[in-house]
Amino acid sequence: MKFRTHFVCQSCGAQASKELGRCHRCSAWNTFVEERVPPTSQQDETRLGLRSSAGAQLYADVEMAQMDRLSLGIDELDRVLGGGAVPGSLILLGGEPGIGKSTLLLQAAAQVAASAGPVLYCSGEESEHQIKVRGERLGIGSAPLYLLAETCLERILDEITRRQPALIIVDSVQTVFSTKLQSVPGSIGQVREAATQLLFGAKSHNIPTFLVGHVTKDGALAGPKALEHIVDTVLYFEGERYQSHRVVRAVKNRFGAVSEVGVFEMTDGGLQPVANPSQLFLAERSAGVPGSAVLCCVEGSRPILIEVQALVSTGAYGNARRTASGIDQHRLALLLAVLEKRVGLNVMGDDVFVNIAGGMTVSEPAADLGIVAAVASSVRNRAIHANTAVFGEVGLAGEVRGISQAALRLREAAQFGFGRCVVPEGNREAADPGGVDIVTVRTLNEALEALIV
Ligand code: TYD
Ligand code: MG
Repeated sequence: MKFRTHFVCQSCGAQASKELGRCHRCSAWNTFVEERVPPTSQQDETRLGLRSSAGAQLYADVEMAQMDRLSLGIDELDRVLGGGAVPGSLILLGGEPGIGKSTLLLQAAAQVAASAGPVLYCSGEESEHQIKVRGERLGIGSAPLYLLAETCLERILDEITRRQPALIIVDSVQTVFSTKLQSVPGSIGQVREAATQLLFGAKSHNIPTFLVGHVTKDGALAGPKALEHIVDTVLYFEGERYQSHRVVRAVKNRFGAVSEVGVFEMTDGGLQPVANPSQLFLAERSAGVPGSAVLCCVEGSRPILIEVQALVSTGAYGNARRTASGIDQHRLALLLAVLEKRVGLNVMGDDVFVNIAGGMTVSEPAADLGIVAAVASSVRNRAIHANTAVFGEVGLAGEVRGISQAALRLREAAQFGFGRCVVPEGNREAADPGGVDIVTVRTLNEALEALIV
């Protein structure tokens, strides 16, 4: 029997009928590998619902299904998913090696097994014995948790059909391979096939399924484009491996809000949910030191106070370095240019380092004002008023723009005991939580005047 083959880019999943030197989609060089075209069997088509379609349905006739979500027994994880896992959904959990993916899912597996019924934990990375050693640290009792050290996709699917578990975990999707394809495990064809088949499995048995995905050095999941399209929800683990806290963020969610975060602390007994992240992120704050500002961000539905630190030092001539961790490098460059032009603060030749304390990542424009304030405070070597929190977007003209959810941010600052908040004029109408002195500003110059001692 002759198989049909095609060429697939291993970095983005683009397909071509012949081998290309450079990918037409992602421009990567020499990434095409020959793969067998997977046969679409009749069975697959029925599972995909291709044969059973009864035609289009009138919007008004579609019934609102009540989704009974499965609680994973870990508050912060339920929160990121939008209140638990939806039956039949496929969830991808990505993160660097050693960040805690297996730990978190083993904890969730034990909780679900104890509360909702049998759980199938398939691992292609560790033996049953290794998983048990970890489980002992986590204090997993006698709940019906089934371990399967298996990498063959077909056997995993068989086991799912036989056990009909309440939850399925596949750790990791890159180790799973299908015997129907000839490419090596971890190649984009295999990863996509595994995810697609597990999606059919999840949907046809109506079981929530977690896939663990490894992140490559440049921060992307191997075969990310191919996987992110297939799954319902994508969660990423963030944080520094050598720090104790971890953030799980939803970057795609068909059943809930995106950018919702769950905060955890890695302890000897596994990952513990952190109910009050502001406290954690400000715990080691260096108040009264130049270059430190407290921002109030909103992640998903939750306000979080975070410390941003900046250090500006004289750099070698013509070789200024800009290092940003936790914020976008390009955003920092833009904010420095605004500082230079609109405030007249000369940082052109200096080295600038900006860091979000605690390994958190902030991408909201509301963080702008805090970042600028921290940099200016470091340049002038004068601290920011103690007990002051700040938020606001900075525009190219040096204006401070209003941002969303100001009331929520003010409330968090008040609750945490901040006595003063510097906020955009555009947010003047925001509900006053009481107990906070609210200073509204229109321009960057006004803001720096109000902030820096
Ligand atoms: P792991 O869950 O194996 O990471 P991943 O699956 O993402 O590769 O991460 C384990 C790390 O966490 C490892 O370095 C040991 C540490 N750890 C703890 O600190 N406490 C614990 O209770 C456990 C189980 C692991
Ligand atoms: Mg692991």
